[in-house]
Amino acid sequence: MTAVDPVQVMKQEVGKAAAALVKSDSIVGLGTGSTTAFAIQYIGERLKSGEISNIKGVPTSFQAIVLARQYGIPLVSLDEIDRIDIAIDGADEVDPQKNLIKGGGAAHTQEKIVDSLASEFVVVVDSGKLVDRLGSTFLLPVEVIPMAVTPVMRAIEKLGGNPQLRMGVKKAGPVVTDQGNLVIDVKFDRIDNPAELEKTLNNIPGVLENGLFVGVTDRVLIGEVKDGQPSVREM
Ligand code: 5RP
Repeated sequence: MTAVDPVQVMKQEVGKAAAALVKSDSIVGLGTGSTTAFAIQYIGERLKSGEISNIKGVPTSFQAIVLARQYGIPLVSLDEIDRIDIAIDGADEVDPQKNLIKGGGAAHTQEKIVDSLASEFVVVVDSGKLVDRLGSTFLLPVEVIPMAVTPVMRAIEKLGGNPQLRMGVKKAGPVVTDQGNLVIDVKFDRIDNPAELEKTLNNIPGVLENGLFVGVTDRVLIGEVKDGQPSVREM
């Protein structure tokens, strides 16, 4: 018998709960990552069963495009629409003010564009992602144009960060984003003011976007396992 992984169960349940928030006739931002993948799957299943209809998805990555196609969700680009009703996306860290670190999947640039445009931005996480202070468990991803990697790393060191170029897994060399850029993961000893750091990093020439999402989140759904039973609560 295969053992059930409780983290997978939490991700699945929270993805399902977020998919249940999607109403007919809406435009949905489709996030990236293993938790959002379950949300995309369940949105597709609700569409297929006829429970909801006339849904259009706005993808945040190549992964989201592939999953939306797999589960039968029609896609639109930002050029074809004038609103996003709801966006569903994962996160790597969530603080008590609902600020986030994202970019574990190197997709934070497109995610920030789509998630910020949504009337309602719903974050789906398992309880292990909750932190008191951003940066305590996860390095901060920064997407950088390739020719600027060295000067950007030096600028980040001057800000007190410890930068490292993200390397590929099962691929020689660095991770290349969907936009053809590179990702620097940065360890800061403390992130006291995420709003200020978000702006400061984006102001370094060559930086496209960083993974701090400040003041963007409307709701956080948290998957938990209590007494062996999966449950979902809202922050
Ligand atoms: C991708 C992201 C993901 O949403 C984040 O890494 C969470 O992923 P997962 O649900 O697989 O833990 O920001 O860039």
